[in-house]
Amino acid sequence: MSRDRIYVENQGALGDFAFDAAVARVFPDMIKRSVPGYTTIIPMIGVISEHYAQANSHLYDLGCSLGASLLAMRHGVKASGCKVVGIDNAEAMLEQCQTYVDQDSHAVPVELHLGDITQFDYTKASVITLNFTLQFIEPEKRQALIQRLYDAMLPGGALILSEKIRFEGQEQSLQEQLHWDFKRANGYSELEISQKRSALENVLLPETAQDHIDRLKQAGFTQASQWYQCFNFTSFIAIK
Ligand SMILES: C[S@@+](CC[C@H](N)C(=O)[O-])C[C@H]1O[C@@H](n2cnc3c(N)ncnc32)[C@H](O)[C@@H]1O
Repeated sequence: MSRDRIYVENQGALGDFAFDAAVARVFPDMIKRSVPGYTTIIPMIGVISEHYAQANSHLYDLGCSLGASLLAMRHGVKASGCKVVGIDNAEAMLEQCQTYVDQDSHAVPVELHLGDITQFDYTKASVITLNFTLQFIEPEKRQALIQRLYDAMLPGGALILSEKIRFEGQEQSLQEQLHWDFKRANGYSELEISQKRSALENVLLPETAQDHIDRLKQAGFTQASQWYQCFNFTSFIAIK
């Protein structure tokens, strides 16, 4: 696995973070060393997929990147006649994902689509995963996307939503500092941490846990709760 060295050198004028070829090369290392809890959440997505997948349905992974959550879903599902569908709008990421899917020998079929998850035509969904993807969607488009997913979901289906979250009051700085400590403990320098933070400032827009719960409930999900949290990173499950 190539080590993430993208922000090691002082970059002067920092552009916005993008899921380009340079990121695709180091993404598995980047996300593991940057997102507390990621290495727990991925296998649990497999466990949740096994529980909620329904026969002859679709399992969607939105913003599938290199396919970590998608492959966990593929290996988790035991119901018959299922298909796993991965969607991402970053060409470099999806190309690498296709390579990993091709190397992974498993009977459950996988389909990858290059495209915008806010526009995709979803059908017969029993499990939908948004693993650290909604945070990159413009906030004004988030409710419509969640509604689109709810409408395409079978009764009893599950939505897994993992996000970086923000907090009200003093908890924000407490959790944020623990996140930076996590990054330091994983070998990121102060310069890397601050340059990455600036690059993400306009593109990764976190909301509070309550904002997410309210949106899921508004879309119609009967149950919506957090099943995991590590510092300012959390994962929700919502059931139709
Ligand atoms: C943090 S990564 C997701 C990580 C991945 N789910 C995993 O578990 O390893 C976010 C992904 O969402 C994709 N993305 C962002 N906005 C998108 C959109 N509107 N349509 C499709 N993909 C999008 C990015 O290209 C990126 O690959």
